[in-house]
Amino acid sequence: MLETRGLTIRFGGHVAVNDVTCSFAPGTLTAIVGPNGAGKTTYFNLISGQLKATSGAVLLDGQDLSGMNASARTRAGLGRAFQLTNLFPNLTVLENVRLAVQATRAGPHHHGLNLWSIWSDHKALTRRAEEVLEAVAMSDKEHMPVAGLPHGDQRKLEVALLMALESSVFMFDEPTAGMSADEAPVILNLIRQLRLDKSKTILLVEHKMDVVRELADRIIVLHNGTLVADGEPAEVIASPIVQEAYLGVNPQGASAQDVAPPQPGLPPQGGRISAP
Ligand SMILES: Nc1ncnc2c1ncn2[C@@H]1O[C@H](COP(=O)(O)OP(=O)(O)OP(=O)(O)O)[C@@H](O)[C@H]1O
Ligand SMILES: [Mg+2]
Repeated sequence: MLETRGLTIRFGGHVAVNDVTCSFAPGTLTAIVGPNGAGKTTYFNLISGQLKATSGAVLLDGQDLSGMNASARTRAGLGRAFQLTNLFPNLTVLENVRLAVQATRAGPHHHGLNLWSIWSDHKALTRRAEEVLEAVAMSDKEHMPVAGLPHGDQRKLEVALLMALESSVFMFDEPTAGMSADEAPVILNLIRQLRLDKSKTILLVEHKMDVVRELADRIIVLHNGTLVADGEPAEVIASPIVQEAYLGVNPQGASAQDVAPPQPGLPPQGGRISAP
């Protein structure tokens, strides 16, 4: 179970994430929605350790991760999609994935300088890396240098690395943003596949409500850094704050596909939604 307790960060006088207490159970996919600047990416950065909280805590299976840096949190099981800057651009796709697999396993140093052990470890790591690449449909690209990959394949590789690291929590921040119409379904299929693994906890920031509706078991809404709604997708999507402020739905019921910025001055109201 991933938990945030009273998670807060201030940038000068601005509170970007404000006292967010929430838990995320294995086997669930939670969509995080809210207008631009609501604090969604900042919330992810606080969970993964890219940003240090002003106050509050992040816990994974009861272990307080708050004092850990981002790499220690990755080792603890928090998977945040990689930036390409974390990769070795001149190494091949396979080599990069193999390094990620290796990071999760006891390496040859446990056997001393035993060439046979080193060789058989290397073969086992390669086999696992190949399995991961097969899962993301990138076997045909395994010998390409990462630097030469098209954008869509780079994003797939990011997911492959999270799989290779055997993360227990997967955080996707607008995973299909900037993707072409034929690239986006591949990433969404990967998320669908991951969702079937009931040991994984998935957090997804997504503006496209059709994607959210299909994939999410639960939706939380952030607004000005505050958690203002949390519940079943149908319930949250139907709630007045999401309908009026985020979907731009008029009283006649016409709806927009994407989450739109809130109308200024609209008060949150109704359902399980608390005033920020
Ligand atoms: N490093 C930073 N320094 C100062 N302010 C920041 C920093 N990072 C984020 N912010 C501010 O925090 C607020 C939340 O930003 P954040 O990027 O988390 O929003 P978001 O919900 O992810 O928006 P979007 O949907 O546009 O991606 C914004 O007002 C942003 O300007
Ligand atoms: Mg963002």
